[in-house]
Amino acid sequence: MALRNIIYSDNELLRKISKPVVEYNERLWQLLDDMKETMIKGDGVGLAAPQVGVLKRVVIVDVNNMFLELVNPEIIKAEGNQYNVEGCLSVKGISGYCNRPLNVTVKAFDRFGKPFMISGTDLLAVCLCHEIDHLNGKLFTDIMVEEYKPKNKNNNQNSKK
Ligand code: NI
Repeated sequence: MALRNIIYSDNELLRKISKPVVEYNERLWQLLDDMKETMIKGDGVGLAAPQVGVLKRVVIVDVNNMFLELVNPEIIKAEGNQYNVEGCLSVKGISGYCNRPLNVTVKAFDRFGKPFMISGTDLLAVCLCHEIDHLNGKLFTDIMVEEYKPKNKNNNQNSKK
C-alpha cells in the first residue's frame, strides 16, 4: 500500500464526472488499498477516488467499525431526511450543515466485481451520499445550508469524508 496525495477543492478534477470501472484488476485493488491507507492517515470516515485524483467510480467508507469498498455505487433508494454537519478531506477549514436522506440503499460491486447491496442510516447514509456525490463532481459545500463554526476549534466533532 502507498499513501496518495489528496487534492483540494481548488482542483478542477473534483468537479469532473468519474468513469465506471470496467476491469476488476490489480490496478483497482492497488487503488482501493492506497485509498484505505490515505483515508486512515487523514483520519477520515470515507474517501472517493477523485479525491486522490483518479476519476473512477470507486469509494470507501469506514463507519461504525464497518469498512466498505464500493465500486460503481448507485443509490437505488433514499428516504427521510437528516440535517447534520459534514466535512471533507478535500475541503480544508470548512464544515457545515447539510440535508441528506436518513436512509439510503446502494447497489455496488466489490473489488472482484461481485454485486451487493448495502442499506445505511444516520452517518452511514450521509457518508454514502457524500462519497457518491464526489463521483459526480459535487462537494458538500454545494448543498451546505449553514457553515458550522465551533466555539472551540479543538472540539470539532465533525467527521471528514
Ligand atoms: Ni469528501
